Amino acid sequence: MEYLLGIDIGTSGTKTVLFDHAGNAVASSTREYPLYQPQIGWAEQDPLDWWHAVCETIKEVIYKSSIAKEDIKGIGLSGQMHGLVMLDKDGKVLRKSIIWCDQRTEKECDEITKRVGKDRLMQITANPALTGFTASKILWVRNNEPETYDKCRKILLPKDYIRYMLTGEFATEVSDASGMQLLDIAHRKWSEEVLQKLEIPKEYLADVYESVVVTGKVNQKAAELTGLMTGTKVAGGAGDQAAGGIGNGIIKEGLVSTMIGTSGVVFAHLDRPMIDDKGRVHTFCHAVPGAWHVMGVTQGAGLSLKWFRDNFCDSEISAAKFMNIDPYVLMTKQAECTSAGSRGVIYLPYMMGERSPHLNPKAKGVFFGITASHSKNDMLRAVLEGVSYSLADCMDIIRGMGITPNQVMASGGGGKSELWRQIQADMFNSTICTNKSTEGGALGVALLAGVGAGIYKNIEEACSAAININEKQEPIAGNVATYKRYHKIYQKLYYDLKDSFELL
Ligand code: XUL
Repeated sequence: MEYLLGIDIGTSGTKTVLFDHAGNAVASSTREYPLYQPQIGWAEQDPLDWWHAVCETIKEVIYKSSIAKEDIKGIGLSGQMHGLVMLDKDGKVLRKSIIWCDQRTEKECDEITKRVGKDRLMQITANPALTGFTASKILWVRNNEPETYDKCRKILLPKDYIRYMLTGEFATEVSDASGMQLLDIAHRKWSEEVLQKLEIPKEYLADVYESVVVTGKVNQKAAELTGLMTGTKVAGGAGDQAAGGIGNGIIKEGLVSTMIGTSGVVFAHLDRPMIDDKGRVHTFCHAVPGAWHVMGVTQGAGLSLKWFRDNFCDSEISAAKFMNIDPYVLMTKQAECTSAGSRGVIYLPYMMGERSPHLNPKAKGVFFGITASHSKNDMLRAVLEGVSYSLADCMDIIRGMGITPNQVMASGGGGKSELWRQIQADMFNSTICTNKSTEGGALGVALLAGVGAGIYKNIEEACSAAININEKQEPIAGNVATYKRYHKIYQKLYYDLKDSFELL
């Protein structure tokens, strides 16, 4: 029997899943690690925490599945995008990684726009300078920690650091590289012009491949640490969103998915690189060779619910432990006790600033409309709704670009909640469906590795072997009308509060 391994280096933890040919998860393992927030708006993680999590989860998956390691025919890597990993001349990590949701680089974004020119930046990288992207993080280290920058010889993305640890190769692939803001998106290669204008040496960057290409093989040291076989093929893989796109079968124009993990995303396949001229959604290379995708990003999606759980749901956490279930199950049940619109409580999910549609690192989270008659249930539901209003904003922009989905695939942790899916169906006024496999990103990169290893002929064949759709959820007319009304207030609140966010 032949198996494929998908490894997803997420923000809350790493998940490693072993799949068979048909995309069935045979065994999986997860390890969490800390997120460091040394200042408001800053977010860092230790790359060695990722590596230890990868080693432990691979070992556990091999042990749980009791398969022979020789039967693992390929490994796919997925992970949080945009994070900056800097290595010295000996391949040692120089500082903690500044990750995707960090918002410290507003000044550096201005510097990028000035050096490259606003229009050229849009033409080449398909996006305006954004605090979330890697280029501004590189400049921040150069401007603020010159002694670290001087020692830097290699710059990698989170999953590509894991590739380096597994194979010794410095390689990346087009979907994740797109989020560095150094790639020529239309031509799928590093932009000499951007690199030269930002004075970033090209040799610091990894070689760029298409996502299905085998970029290296597991070396002996990594084999000893993980229990893998030396020589196992490691494919390019993909940034978590493109990986999730593959794992949900978003491989043709007109297909759209949503993903609620720590961040939230509306993702659409493109046959050519189409750009929102206001830069409110990102256009990146897709993991499908020769294709692109557009996505709107909500910075604080699952992050908002996790924050609510960790700060206000001690009793739900204890009860869930006692019942041996996930606290989110109890929290969702409570949210079901109130009605669509949360009886007038509105939540803005801008806990880590916001990307789509506002591109404002200074935006903040807000609960609005609370009265003495409201309860925790209303606030809980308001969190689910606030995140979904933000996704609905992304969906509106994508629809405005001429992409009209007839159904939307929901995924990620949030996609597992029937209530959260229904809220999305009602807000998008669209049918929502899910894939039978809920492994999204891990499945996506396992399929890419399967193409690289020659198990599938191409991505279409891989997806048709592994993707099966569950029953669909339709919008509820009454809720559609309620959300339409509240969405306008939600949108107005941002503009009413914009100056106050700045003052704060
Ligand atoms: C996408 C993005 C997030 C991270 C973390 O642009 O920033 O989705 O990849 O999941």
